Amino acid sequence: MIRKKLIAGNWKMNKTATEAAPLAQEIVAAAGRNTDVDIVVCPPFTALETVGKIVDGSSVKLGAQNMHHEASGAYTGEISAAMLRDLFASYVLLGHSERRSYFGETDAFINKKVTASLKNQLKPILCVGETLAEREAGTTLKVVQTQVEVGLEGVSNDDITNVVIAYEPVWAIGTGKVATTEQAQEVHAFIRELLTKLYGEALAQKIRILYGGSMKPANAPELLAQKDIDGGLIGGAALESRSFLELINAAA
Ligand code: G3P
Repeated sequence: MIRKKLIAGNWKMNKTATEAAPLAQEIVAAAGRNTDVDIVVCPPFTALETVGKIVDGSSVKLGAQNMHHEASGAYTGEISAAMLRDLFASYVLLGHSERRSYFGETDAFINKKVTASLKNQLKPILCVGETLAEREAGTTLKVVQTQVEVGLEGVSNDDITNVVIAYEPVWAIGTGKVATTEQAQEVHAFIRELLTKLYGEALAQKIRILYGGSMKPANAPELLAQKDIDGGLIGGAALESRSFLELINAAA
């Protein structure tokens, strides 16, 4: 397989640094030498340093959940790419639907972050996905197309294979309602087609497209068996080592 599967845990606003340490230790102890699957954990900013030290030297990579596109300056409360690199983060989630809906992040704003992350050698995980109203209105593919096209504006052929896309239907996040494998594969194939138009077949075949939204050990094997589903972006099931490790095994 040309694309190595990737399992990323988005811990969202959960776990103090003190609480994050044992979870990271359990993941490293059980999967820190795993090379079949790329593993990323994305703790909150305040736990990045603690978790970074624990995963250091293992195959588990560190990711952040957001960043600002400017290099430095008067942006109270914000975190730059260089600050994340300084803590040895390799990945950064960008455009998560919670950022879009609660914090008003637009595609154009997210695009600035995508290009800034790449300039700083951080691999962006660009999140896209439709709301329930958009799915019901039949606009899923149109919405996702805009999110992908605008999100990737200015990303060169040289950089695109460092980008990961995560398709997360908003109605499936934290709701227990997982997209059917057909629904998920349809959108993943559409995204791949779009990437082919933008970057050509050879590069598009190398870009990983993750599924996110109530992915659990029980539904993961079927989702991960789909042709264009290259891993998972996991919320709830990443907060407990047992289920996260089961998901890693499902991807192996
Ligand atoms: O970013 C991961 C996410 O939004 C999915 O959350 O809890 O439905 O797995 P969850």
